Order: sequence, then C-alpha cells, then structure tokens
Amino acid sequence: MAIPIVLDHNSPQSLQGQIFEQLRHLILGGKLKPGTPIPASRVLAEQLGTSRNTVLLVYDRLMAEGYLQARKAIGTYVNLELPETCLAATRRIATSIPVQGEMVRQPVIPFTGQRRMGADARHLDFDFFPDRTDLDLFPQKIWRRFINRTLTSSSTHFTECGDPGGLLQLREVVADHLGIARGISVSSDQVIITAGSQEGLNLAARLLIKEGTLVATENPCYEGAALLFQSYYAKLVPVPVDEAGLDVERLPKEGVMLLYVTPSHQYPLGFTLPIERRLKLLDWARRCGAYIIEDDYDSDFRYRGSPLTALMGLDDYGCVMYLGTFSKSMGAGLRLGYLVVPKALIHAARSAKALLNNGHAWLDQATMAEFIRSGAYSNHLRRMRHVYCKRRDCLIEALRQHFGAVHLSGLESGLHLAWHLPENYPDASELQALALRHGVGIYAIGSGTAYDYGKCDYSARTLILGFSSLNEYQIRAGIRRIADAFAGLPIVNE
Ligand SMILES: Cc1ncc(COP(=O)(O)O)c(C=O)c1O
Repeated sequence: MAIPIVLDHNSPQSLQGQIFEQLRHLILGGKLKPGTPIPASRVLAEQLGTSRNTVLLVYDRLMAEGYLQARKAIGTYVNLELPETCLAATRRIATSIPVQGEMVRQPVIPFTGQRRMGADARHLDFDFFPDRTDLDLFPQKIWRRFINRTLTSSSTHFTECGDPGGLLQLREVVADHLGIARGISVSSDQVIITAGSQEGLNLAARLLIKEGTLVATENPCYEGAALLFQSYYAKLVPVPVDEAGLDVERLPKEGVMLLYVTPSHQYPLGFTLPIERRLKLLDWARRCGAYIIEDDYDSDFRYRGSPLTALMGLDDYGCVMYLGTFSKSMGAGLRLGYLVVPKALIHAARSAKALLNNGHAWLDQATMAEFIRSGAYSNHLRRMRHVYCKRRDCLIEALRQHFGAVHLSGLESGLHLAWHLPENYPDASELQALALRHGVGIYAIGSGTAYDYGKCDYSARTLILGFSSLNEYQIRAGIRRIADAFAGLPIVNE
C-alpha cells in the first residue's frame, strides 16, 4: 500500500519533519485507521526517495508519542487506542488548518428522487409482503452447477466488455421464450438485458422523458415506476383502474408521451386487461403518438386458462416497449431482466445502455442463457407454478375460513392477490397496523407496495397479500393470527 505523502525538497522543514507531520495528519484525520499496517521503513523510504534512516527516526517518534505500535515479527500498525494526548492534537489541528480564500458553498445536487420502500425491516412472524420469493425454492444446486460450467467454458469474457445490449445467447433465448410464452415476435437485437426491470424502466425513461414530459400510469400503480418517472421530472397523469384493468376511455386524448401499464396482472390489484381494451389502447397510442411500457412482471405464473397475447404481440405500430424480469421466477437478488424495444428504438436503447454501464455482467447472463437453453428453466417454472398455485389456494381457503365470502381479485395469475374489504370493516391501513402489531404483514395500497395518487376507489378498502415467500403452514398460521387479532372487530366468521 502506497501512503499519500508528498515531500517538498525546497521546504525549510526537514524531510523527517514533513513525513512525521503528514503521517500524523493521516492518522488523526482517520485516513489511516487504528489497526492499519504501516509499510516497512525500507518500503516507505523507497517510495519517498529518502534514506531508510530518516523513516526509521519518524517511526520511532510516532511510536514514542503513541500513534504507532510495533508488533514483533508482524510489523508496525496504527495504534488501536490513540491516547488522549493524540486526540487533543486532532482538535488543535482541526482548528489550526488555515482556510485560504472564501469558502464556496457546494451547489445543491439537482436529483430529488425518492427510493422505493422494501419489505418491512422489522422481523415479522408472517410477512405477506408481495415482492418476495422463497429462498428455499431457488434452484441453488443446479444454478451452482451451471455457474461452474459457464466459468470453465469461457473465462475470456472477464477481460472484455461485452455487447452493451447483452450477451447474444441470452437475448436469443429470451426472444424465443417471448414468442412461445407471450406471442411476441421479436429479433434478438430488440432485446436489451438489464439489471431487473427497474433498469429497463430507467432506460425507457432516459429515452423518452425530459422535464415536464407527461407520463400516464394506472392509479394505483407500481411504486418503482412512479418514483422513477418523477426522478426524471416527468409530470405524472393518473388514469383510473376498474375490474378490467386500466380504464382506456379515461386516458387523456393528447399530450401524453408515455404510458406505463401492467395489462396481464394489474399491479397491485391483479385485474387482467381484456383484448378489446388492449386493442383500444394501441389505437390510443397511435392517435396520440405515445409510447407504452408494458410491464409483464409476473406473467410466467398463470393458474387459470391461457394467457392473453401481450400488448407488444398485438402492436403493429411499433409503440410498445416490453419489460420482463427474472425477479419473480428466479429471485430479485439476481438483478436480471430485459427491455424489448420496437425496432426504431434499438440504436438509442443500446447507446443509452452503453453509457449507463457498458452492458450487464457476463457471468449471470451466460449462466441464465444456459439455464434456459438446457430446458432447466422450463422445468423450474413448471415446479414453481405448481407450488405457488397451491399456496394461492391455501391463502384463499384460509381467508374464507376465517372471514367468510371474501371479495378477492388477481387470482388468475401472479404471486399476490388483493382483498377488497366490505363497508363494515375498518380502513385497510388500520387493519394493516393492527396485524403488524401481531407480527403479521398485510399491506394497504400506498404502504410501500404500490403508488397511490391518494384518491382512487381502492385506497382505503383494499389489502394486498403476497403468497410466494410463505409456505402453506405459514400462510394458514398467519391468517389465523390476524383473525385472532381482528377478533374484537365485528367482522370475523365464527
Ligand atoms: C409491477 C412490478 N414490476 C416489476 C417488478 C420487478 O422489479 P425488478 O425486476 O427490478 O426486480 C416488480 C417487483 O417485484 C413489480 O411488482
């Protein structure tokens, strides 16, 4: 380790004095922390171009004053406990450093974005937070095997930046997957591999939003999207949602540059946008000259019937960007997702991605590509669908057992559902707080799971419950616990 000491050979102060003062400042300023090893005298002398004797004399003095400590056969360290006399010197140094000229105040940084809240940091006995998956279900063994296989086959990728759009093999298997599973016919160069769909959103925003751009979203919508658009100084336009998803008739007739929408499983309410609305939506985009971001975050998990073709699969105008993620099917910690852009935006999207980070980490991409290509991903998805379907059924049954004929939405697909409370129930936020006090996480809209503009029909009377991170035993126990907690209220089934 080279220590940042600069010697001035024209200074009236001796070299020994200069080294001593600078080392002392580094120690007292916390730049050389207690316990940090100091280079051997020979090494520092070589670095500074002085005699070893000069450095030895400095070390002796620093040791005598308690700044350094020598340990036999190990070396010299910054003293673990700096004596009070040294610390008093810090205070003197702090007040004696001369300030040259007027101090110029740093400009206020222009970024005003807020980050999305994650799951409650407190430990809860049963947490139905919607954005979690189950660690026990991550295919650890097989994933490790694929990583090892990838590492041995092509390690040259460690020393080269890859294609900014992503590893070709992964883009190809993603394009194939989208054709089969979502009815989207795209070429691999339309696919940009990203760090989760959040980076895909960032890329889309980077391409289309400047200060004051009108961006429409469902109300309520995914908080990660709304906060991101705001951080680009977009002007958000809330569009109401009903039991068939986004109310297309209530979209502004003009002025909107971008619409963010979750047609397969409206986030957070779980409604599915029917085909007539999908077609109307595309027509609206064509008439307005707007782009649409279709966030298809959990469509791999469909439990009833066949999925509707994705909006992008119906798009003849080249106005839809499609966001996909492996956060739900594999795990959010992988940070792997993709943005599929219309042909006209390929160049711009790839350039934006290159400027952002020169492309995604190679090892994860190569492992995922092989995982999909080998068929292991399809097997994993099949297994996950079965497990999550059972968990969903278990949650529905537990809610019915304790609360009667509950009104639920979002059951056809995904990893969470919405529970619409009857009029005689307290507000969702009150129930959330009560459950939380009993160690159970159930979530009102706008409590960190979704972005609520504040006046939608669902703000007060809907609770969101994720079922992907709890097993069936935990789901039953969690719902029993809230039924007990709500026992004083006139609502629980006897
Ligand atoms: C609507 C929606 N989109 C996307 C995601 C996934 O985000 P990411 O891929 O950045 O983990 C989530 C989160 O769980 C989500 O709820």
